Amino acid sequence: MREILIQNAQLVNEGQIVQKDLLIRGSKIEKISDHITPMGNEERIDATGLHMLPGWIDDQVHFREPGLTHKATIATESRAAVAGGITSFIEMPNTQPQTTTQKALDDKLNIAAQTSIANYGFLFGGTNDNLEEIKSFDNTKAAGLKLFLGSSTGNMLVDDEEVLKKIFSSTDLPIAVHCEDETTIKANLAQHLAQYGEHIPIEKHPEIRSEQACYLSSSRAIELAKSTGARLHVFHLSTAIETELFSNDKPLAEKKITAEVCVHHLWFSEEDYAEKGTLIKWNPAVKKATDREALWKALNEDKIDILATDHAPHTMEEKQNSYTKAPSGGPLVQHAFPALLTAVKQGKISLEKLVEKTSHNPAILFRIQNRGFLRPGYYADLVLVDLQKKYTVNQEDILYKCGWSPFEGTPFEATIEKTFVNGNLVYDEGKIIESALGKKLCFDR
Ligand code: DOR
Repeated sequence: MREILIQNAQLVNEGQIVQKDLLIRGSKIEKISDHITPMGNEERIDATGLHMLPGWIDDQVHFREPGLTHKATIATESRAAVAGGITSFIEMPNTQPQTTTQKALDDKLNIAAQTSIANYGFLFGGTNDNLEEIKSFDNTKAAGLKLFLGSSTGNMLVDDEEVLKKIFSSTDLPIAVHCEDETTIKANLAQHLAQYGEHIPIEKHPEIRSEQACYLSSSRAIELAKSTGARLHVFHLSTAIETELFSNDKPLAEKKITAEVCVHHLWFSEEDYAEKGTLIKWNPAVKKATDREALWKALNEDKIDILATDHAPHTMEEKQNSYTKAPSGGPLVQHAFPALLTAVKQGKISLEKLVEKTSHNPAILFRIQNRGFLRPGYYADLVLVDLQKKYTVNQEDILYKCGWSPFEGTPFEATIEKTFVNGNLVYDEGKIIESALGKKLCFDR
């Protein structure tokens, strides 16, 4: 079996940074030690000066396949992901058709098996009328259930209170929710349309998709989880006030209510709308700098458990429409890690805490087997990063099918050097290596 010995890397794992050698055998980590004596047959990589992190398990991406492949495909975006140090992804159900039936889920698993260079998993979508499918589908095949409690790309709003209660009561899977109160959004939008007509300034986006809309919806979802005993995971927090809804009194494995924050809500603030316009139109909206600070604080205090991208590509043509027509979302998987490593260098979070939120915690929350940690016997999903090498996002390097990035021109303080998925080197200093495809994520349940 093929062996690769990575020497002298600074391993960032389980709260520590220590210099170690790591031996890969086949798809798994064989050994981690202060010094591993080469046997002669293995390939050797000298990682002196580099940090080795377990690959990011991104629990929220939109790869648009099937049905929206003019924006992106699992093939293109999984390659952008590994270039960005993301070795596994969990993809969302708002494709066409929506992933709300067993067949649609099987079809996606098949597409990924044939085209994804990263490891893959999917969320099953809940709607107002697929309760029977939710009860009967093979839940070993999905990472969890996704519910849109606020409308966004793909018309998947679940707004029937009775149905919601039944869904929350009828599954043991983690239920991941998009929380924005629809009634509040509609009222805010009507008011802005009356004032501005079609040409609402983008700066008004956080007033329409407001703090109040987020807070109302998140608190309602939490109430429902408490009353039904469901395992709730609230996606993409964007406001300071929502962080108060979450606690840090238990280790993650014992929590029944958890939260996620995405890179764009940690990087941008409403001050950036003037320069970036609709390119940074997201649902939920990027809000105030004070919200951003509170999100960093809650992340560091473990009230927020997981970091994700919510990678949601749209074409430049679509994004350049006026406020009401431009879709929300933007591509992020290739550049989110360099952005967060830059935040590490700026002192916003420690490297150890970052790895906990990107790799360890998604594995714990979704009970992903043998991934998310640097441990012998675990899959060798690894990233080598250079924290001294600066990197500026530029057009030519972009691997997203949509061909643009909200970070274009942004100088980052760190570079992803190499990415291994299941022991295979799939990204090496700017190049995708087509050595092997990714594997399906398996869940302990
Ligand atoms: O901004 C967003 N874009 N938020 C979502 O919830 C969906 C996503 C998309 O699919 O475009």
